Formats: sequence, C-alpha cells, structure tokens
Amino acid sequence: MTELDLQSRWSEAFRSAVVSGLSAPRKRLPSCWLYDARGCDLFNAITRLDDYYPTRAETEILLRHASDIAEFCGEGAALLEYGAGAGVKTELLIDAMNAPRLYVPIDIASDELLTTTERMGRRFSSLQISPVIADFTGAFDLPALPPGPRVAFFPGSTIGNLDRREAIAFLTRMRAHVAGGRAIIGVDLKKDRNILLSAYDDSEGVTAAFNLNLLARINRELDGGFPLDRFAHKARWNEAESAVEMHLVSLDAREIPAAGRDFEFRAGESIHTESSRKYDLNSFAALAEAAGWRLARCWRNAQFAVLGLEANLASPLEAWS
Ligand code: AVI
Repeated sequence: MTELDLQSRWSEAFRSAVVSGLSAPRKRLPSCWLYDARGCDLFNAITRLDDYYPTRAETEILLRHASDIAEFCGEGAALLEYGAGAGVKTELLIDAMNAPRLYVPIDIASDELLTTTERMGRRFSSLQISPVIADFTGAFDLPALPPGPRVAFFPGSTIGNLDRREAIAFLTRMRAHVAGGRAIIGVDLKKDRNILLSAYDDSEGVTAAFNLNLLARINRELDGGFPLDRFAHKARWNEAESAVEMHLVSLDAREIPAAGRDFEFRAGESIHTESSRKYDLNSFAALAEAAGWRLARCWRNAQFAVLGLEANLASPLEAWS
C-alpha cells in the first residue's frame, strides 16, 4: 500500500469514527484521533508538565533499573516498540541493552516516526532500524526479524488507554509478534484522585488544548463548525472503570456541522474522548494472564510500574483453542 492509500484510508477512518461517535446516544471519539501533528506536539508538551507525573515517574524507574531491565531483554535482542512516538525512553533502554540487533519502532504518526528513526539512527549508528507505519491496536505486518530473542516495549502507560477487550487483543497480538519472547510494559498505578485529576487537567491548560485540538482537527479536516470557545475540557474519575476520563463539554445547546452532517448538542452534553485506566499489580497481572503472559519482573516506584512479562507457553487461550 502506498503512503497516499494509507493517508486516504486513514482520513476515511477518521470521518467514519466522527460520524458514528457523534451520532451515538453518549457521544464519544476514540482517543487515537487526538494525535495529529499538533496533537503529538501538545502531548509531548504534556509529558514535560509538573502536573503530569507519569513520564517523570517511568523515566526515573528506567534510569534506576536500566541494567536490570536490559538484562531481562537478553543479548542480541530485536526490540519492537509499540506507539514509539518521540522514543525518548527507548534511548535509555537501547543504551543499556547488550548488543541489540534490531529496533522496530511502530507508530501511526508517520512524521514523528521518521524523525525518531533519524534521531535513533544518528544516536545508535550500528543498530539496524526498521520503522513500521501502522496502527498498533490492529493487525499489521512486521518486517523480517533476525534470529534471537524478541522483546516488545510498550512504555508510557498507553495500555491504560485501551479498554479490557482491546487490551487483551493487543497483548495477545504482541505475544504472537515476539513468538515466545518477553515484553516490558509501563503501567500507571492507582493513586489519590486529586493527583490523577491534576495530571489530566493541568494548571497550564496544555491538556485542555490537547483535548480541544480534536475539535479543531474535525474543523480542519472534516469541514466541522465546532466553536472551540464554547466547549470545555473536563477530567473525571470513573471509579467503576478505575479510569480518568477526558471529556469535551458543550456549554450551550446547538447544532454543529461536521463531515457533511449536523449533530445536535444539549447544554452540558459531553463527548468522551479518552479513558486512562489505572491498575494495581494484581489487576494488571490478571489482564496480562488473560492474554497469555506471566508477570515475571516488576520495577516500580510509588506512582508507576515497569513490568517484565514472559509469554506463558501454557496460556489459557491456547488451552481453549
Ligand atoms: C498516551 N497516554 C498514555 C496518555 C495518558 O496519560 O493516558 C495520554 C494523555 N491524555 C491526557 N494526558 C495524557
């Protein structure tokens, strides 16, 4: 498939997600659409905010335990990174790894993927890098992988943005990719709700701009008529889902055109744009187990955990099929 085919499929997928999400009785837009070029820039700015602790907490763990985590990866491993983004934490890991053979960054944001590939190529000149432009939450083809251990790397607590069904499907596919190998996953831990809410509604308003950019994107790409100053960013804690939710709340009742349709909004009606699930070690281990993984190692601090998983060869899923 050419880059152009991919682009037009992707814009069609965006149109269809917007039409079905805004027609639903409880309006929602999948969080993957937050990441256009502007959204990626805003997300990178979020990771540097005082209020947004996950990046700092995870980086601290990776720095402190780099050699132990690298040893868990094994010698001469191929490293597959899902949703590579700017790949900043990956540098820490690759730096510590023993003679990594190949790095496969996987991301749908093709511009950022290219920038990351170039930067990593300069930084690790003898490392082979094979970028893959793909939506890692669906099925996609991997490049040919060399013999030797395979390790999946999924930092940033992005696993928390998937619901249970999506997370199990993703972790199961990831296990197939590493063919009996290992995975390193960043998981944000459950904590005081005020810390969580400040992280997703920061005092500098960057998360609000990140969320509202989704409406600006609809205006830009789908001829939308969202008045951005009449929608408010809201972060809410959903106890039943153990998740922080981001919403965009309409301040008035109005009809809004987008993607060739008109969508009715009541005053106070919200569009749910993201859930960020928070786990404890037991709930994450149960999730991983349902996808055929075993929790083998845990490097953590008070806020965040980096978990080492091993493919469970006698997985319940295999036993069932
Ligand atoms: C990418 N993901 C792990 C972030 C999170 O914390 O759920 C996205 C984000 N949304 C608002 N702030 C950051």
